[in-house]
Amino acid sequence: MLRTLIMTVGVVAAAAALGFGAVYFMSEARLRDAARGSAFDAAIPSDAASLERGRHIARTRGCFGCHGQQLEGKDFGEQWDWPERAVAPNLAAYARAHDAATMEAAIRQGIGADGRALMAMPSFNFTRLTDDDTAALIAFLRSAPVTKSDLPEAKLGWSVRFDLARGAETTMTDWVRAVPALRVDAAAEPERARGEYLAMTMCNECHGLDVRGQMLFGPPTPDLAMVAAISRADFERLITTGVGVGVGGRELGLMGLVAPDRFPALTSEEIDALYAYLVSLAGEPAAPDVFWRPAP
Ligand code: HEC
Ligand code: HEC
Repeated sequence: MLRTLIMTVGVVAAAAALGFGAVYFMSEARLRDAARGSAFDAAIPSDAASLERGRHIARTRGCFGCHGQQLEGKDFGEQWDWPERAVAPNLAAYARAHDAATMEAAIRQGIGADGRALMAMPSFNFTRLTDDDTAALIAFLRSAPVTKSDLPEAKLGWSVRFDLARGAETTMTDWVRAVPALRVDAAAEPERARGEYLAMTMCNECHGLDVRGQMLFGPPTPDLAMVAAISRADFERLITTGVGVGVGGRELGLMGLVAPDRFPALTSEEIDALYAYLVSLAGEPAAPDVFWRPAP
């Protein structure tokens, strides 16, 4: 009797170990199924204007919001129950420890220094950054003073591993691949092209990969074609203060948090271009069959 019990317990434990092992192995295989594109070999500038440009990119793209105002890193701990524990690394320290190609792979391709796909870093928001802007960003991060910080280990969690293993979860490289190409011809319409570039490297973090709205996770975000309903002055006030202008009758939550951290740094030319592009979306139908905006 006791022997049978011990054997049963042993078999169950062995099966469980095998199961966890398989989930671990398959989830790691998914994470490692992320080949870097050709290595980034743009020259990293060191002149003052490029460093300032890099700081501007970091500020307006939210690096400070998630990686800390001193770029010292941030533990998202309990705030995000997914992927169990997200920890944004100390970026100033990271920039000194890694070469430009490794940094570019993390920023634009969603691949970490260990060769595994990232899960929580929004590289899809940065994948359309130009080589010049990426090089300036890397230059700035390397020049930023390192503030010491004590960060815990990031954790992936079994439920995410299980979803990865059965193909029910996406990695950052999947998201990066899903970002639509820029469409506006810069030679024919320079201002609208600048606006598209800004929208597709700033606003598509939350407003859908095509900035036409998102309903997959977090608070649902509106289709930014709605900007056509507000004036240029109200638009500027909204994105630089994070206080709603009453157009959708919404209380601003997340938008109210990120806007004042990121967008007051935009120049008025940038706001003009962004406004021109978003207003021009009003007549265009939005793609109905995309995963970040499932059909209702
Ligand atoms: C929404 C929050 C968020 C924003 C915005 C963000 N990051 Fe991250 N970043 C993270 C998290 C969380 C990680 C840890 C890896 C993970 O969980 O995917 C990370 C990881 C990284 C890494 C290390 C990747 C590795 O493991 O090798 C680099 C480099 C990085 N971020 C650069 C940037 C830069 C540059 C910006 C601004 C252009 C930026 N991040 C903006 C959250 C963010
Ligand atoms: C970190 C996520 C995030 C980013 C980045 C972001 N937004 Fe939002 N935005 C939201 C959310 C969420 C809402 C819905 C209201 C809320 O919950 O704050 C919203 C609402 C809005 C609204 C509607 C306001 C109203 O009164 O109804 C506008 C317009 C808007 N965002 C414009 C932008 C523009 C332009 C950008 C890029 C420059 C941008 N947002 C970037 C999350 C974001």
